[in-house]
Amino acid sequence: QTDLIEKAKKLCAYAAVDSNLDINKDKVIGIGSGSTVVYVAERVGQLAKNSGVVCVPTGFQSKQLIIENGLRLGTLEEYPEIDVAFDGADEIDSSLNCIKGGGGCLLQEKLVADSAKRFILVADDRKNTGILGRHWTQGVPIEVIPTAYTKILRQLKQIGGKPTVRLGGKAKAGPVITDNGNFIIDCDFGEVPAEKLEALNDKLIRMVGIVETGYFVGIAKKAYIGKSDGTVSTLD
Ligand code: A5P
Repeated sequence: QTDLIEKAKKLCAYAAVDSNLDINKDKVIGIGSGSTVVYVAERVGQLAKNSGVVCVPTGFQSKQLIIENGLRLGTLEEYPEIDVAFDGADEIDSSLNCIKGGGGCLLQEKLVADSAKRFILVADDRKNTGILGRHWTQGVPIEVIPTAYTKILRQLKQIGGKPTVRLGGKAKAGPVITDNGNFIIDCDFGEVPAEKLEALNDKLIRMVGIVETGYFVGIAKKAYIGKSDGTVSTLD
């Protein structure tokens, strides 16, 4: 089972890069985070090493992947316009909205996605849930300013969410700290239909102390879904 999932991740990542990266035209590439993007970076490395292409990372892991695959690292400050960005997702709905932030990198992931002309998702079939809120029972990750966390927990409960501060578990006593020095609150809102997402996300963004949410509404252009039977399907 694990082998099949790994194979599905690799297949969708390679298919996404092969169909969307034109190294003659695309000069700035966004590289996301997570275990599926490992294969994206591998494939981009095979095709674009020494081509002058610049890769903009979405966090620490992503930066390592770019370096390990012999690619040129750039920052969003230097390259605010990205030609194409690839990233994984925790859940994808049938309208191409998604939840991200399982790895805690949602803020930088959204910055890169929002700066990209084309934002492409790669995921194995378990993430293709039709409606957001089905697969990831912890809910949507929300990055918050540390001093605001109790205020935000209270406000999230008031609008019907079930929030929990993400803890480091065995690796760290206390909350997970993001690459930006913030906390993550995972908030379960149950299933959220596509037509209600924007309103919910707007409500969250208006809460002072929330930096960003893991709801990526209307940003992705296409998703490549790897299946354990060895095929890849697309959503667009
Ligand atoms: C990182 O913060 C996340 O948004 C990941 O992109 C997402 O969790 C997908 O990760 P996997 O490819 O490991 O499932």
